[in-house]
Amino acid sequence: TETDKGAYPFYMLKEIDEQPVVIRQLISRYLPKDGQPQIGEGIVKDMLAADRIYIVAAGTSYHAGLVGARLFERWAGIPTEVHVSSEFAYEQPLLSEKPFFIFLSQSGETADSREVLQNINAQGFKSLTLTNVEKSTLWREATYALPLLAGPEIAVASTKAYVAQVTLQAILAYALADREALNLDLEQELSKIAIAIQGIIDDKEQLQEVAEEMLVPAHHAFYIGRGVDSAVVLEAALKLKEISYVQTEGFAAGELKHGTLALIEEDTPVIAVMTQPRLAGLVRGNLAETQARGAKTYTIVTQAIAKPEDDFVLPDINELLTPLVSVVPAQLLAYYTSLGRGLDVDHPRNLAKSVTVQ
Ligand code: G6P
Repeated sequence: TETDKGAYPFYMLKEIDEQPVVIRQLISRYLPKDGQPQIGEGIVKDMLAADRIYIVAAGTSYHAGLVGARLFERWAGIPTEVHVSSEFAYEQPLLSEKPFFIFLSQSGETADSREVLQNINAQGFKSLTLTNVEKSTLWREATYALPLLAGPEIAVASTKAYVAQVTLQAILAYALADREALNLDLEQELSKIAIAIQGIIDDKEQLQEVAEEMLVPAHHAFYIGRGVDSAVVLEAALKLKEISYVQTEGFAAGELKHGTLALIEEDTPVIAVMTQPRLAGLVRGNLAETQARGAKTYTIVTQAIAKPEDDFVLPDINELLTPLVSVVPAQLLAYYTSLGRGLDVDHPRNLAKSVTVQ
């Protein structure tokens, strides 16, 4: 059944494995063959009338929002801001004239996000919740809601909900875009991505080896990237730290030299995510700076960028959709590090799946 681990040792691995299916579910629900995205006329109308989108979320959902903002800006041309709900709730920024709010929440119950939704409802603004739980609080209280269709997510560390949130935001941005000018067959691209994720999962043994050799013995670790990869590395670092307890930071690669480089020692793991051809040279430079200080480096790159010395090569896909693929090796590295340390992967200490306190 959906909530049974079956032969899997942990829910997290099962949920990582389900990611290609989740993408296919979203395609069949929201991108039927005739090409017109199916997300509801009211949503499209209200979003197109907005002068700015505000994405509000917490944790992994916030990280999915950082990717979504790029999609709304670059595909749909709508300025978009992303906010951590616990901050927005008590320090509301100056809003644009016609704001539209998107709440991202796997559970639909995060108290911090609910606080924001109540505040903006009181101000009369429109909102859309993307959640995995239909009829949840954030589902009921927003103007509109769409399901993530990821199926129950049980492991505390979120995986398939992130992929579903990025995918659904891509479909939304696509629905709002001038699709002729964008010149992208999203259905086809997402199908390619589902296959690419499957390929990574089939190749997971090499990630187990890397985790055991490089991350299990580590005290701290870094993920670096630029552009949309700077958003992915935040999620990659969160996955690793929350289930393995290896202190991990995700950094915009160019920012490393402004302080954090001082923490690099002999054998400090530094993992670079490089999917954006125009930025790869710069990230390679930043990586070399860490190597010169003794870092043990690992690279996750797309084919177009790959050099013989790179470690994990991903197929080439639309640049803004690369997070859907590049996050997967990071999820698996986190999983195998936690496993290698003998920890309870699904139930990290001090954490809850859904946080209903502020
Ligand atoms: C908790 C969970 C995280 C999740 C965050 C936001 O901290 O452990 O996995 O990303 O809440 O939850 P939400 O349900 O709003 O996406």
